[in-house]
Amino acid sequence: MHLPVLLNELLNIVQPQPGMVVIDATYGGGGHAAAIARLVGEQGKVIGIDQDPQVAKSQPAEPNISLVQANFADIGQIAQEWNLDQLDLIIADLGFSSIQLDDPKRGFSFQTEGPLDMRLNQAQGRTAAELIKQAEAAELERMLRTYAELVPKLARQLTKLIVQARAQAAITTTEQLAAIARQIFAKYPFAKKENKYLAQVFQGFRLAVNQELEALNKFLPQALALLKPGGKLAVISFHSLEDRLVKRFFQQESRDCLCPPNYPVCRCGHQAQLQVLTKKAIQPTAAEIMQNSRARSARLRVAKKR
Ligand SMILES: C[S@@+](CC[C@H](N)C(=O)[O-])C[C@H]1O[C@@H](n2cnc3c(N)ncnc32)[C@H](O)[C@@H]1O
Repeated sequence: MHLPVLLNELLNIVQPQPGMVVIDATYGGGGHAAAIARLVGEQGKVIGIDQDPQVAKSQPAEPNISLVQANFADIGQIAQEWNLDQLDLIIADLGFSSIQLDDPKRGFSFQTEGPLDMRLNQAQGRTAAELIKQAEAAELERMLRTYAELVPKLARQLTKLIVQARAQAAITTTEQLAAIARQIFAKYPFAKKENKYLAQVFQGFRLAVNQELEALNKFLPQALALLKPGGKLAVISFHSLEDRLVKRFFQQESRDCLCPPNYPVCRCGHQAQLQVLTKKAIQPTAAEIMQNSRARSARLRVAKKR
């Protein structure tokens, strides 16, 4: 069961109206999509995209929802295939769903034993086990520093241990990776927060396996191009790098000129296309976090096309 995060906050700000045409770029358990589908009604429609074939095969939560198996990095092409432009609303709720997290066969959780897969689309790409086997030490360390947000010393130590361990035997299960990481974290005074660090390590590898930041980078400009004037783009992120990417994109696209400040006149000709509706990212209330701990790191940003 997946509880949609920041649902009321999202609906309040995007205000879905009857007849609207919407893309939910990350359908997941369909929580956000179903709420929006009910508000846009019979005259409206919601196209739900998910790269996970199991999600795309599921029964849509409402009759006016259609599901498509695809990566949202290709949203422009998908919209073309569905004859969609001039959209009223595009939403993306990044990362994985509780349904995926809770399935041990997917390998997303350090709390359950399973194959170290972590692919959101299990039909393609390298698994986390393959990535850990093949990546150079420097690349592993970079992933642990940037994606898992470990301080350099920890990233270095964990990389060393992973490299030593994989020379002995392939690291193919969640339990193996968690056990290696625990050896490092147990040495530090923050050992009580071990689960937080393990979650970061697993999240970091998941981001790398699925090239999630790259997909988001491709998605944002295409989504903007598909909106009609007044249409809204809403993104919920769970990682500081994702949130920064969204924030910077919104800032950039809400400015007229992007020339360096020392240029006396504008040479770029860039024109603002967005109006940012969330000056600061919207965060979940304490009550929501109590009910759904996954919501803890959620950040919602919304912008409107001019
Ligand atoms: C947080 S869940 C979405 C939950 C959904 N909003 C709900 O209320 O049930 C994220 C979903 O997006 C999918 N996903 C993540 N990255 C994607 C991408 N680049 N393209 C398409 N789907 C993606 C995942 O497979 C997952 O099902």
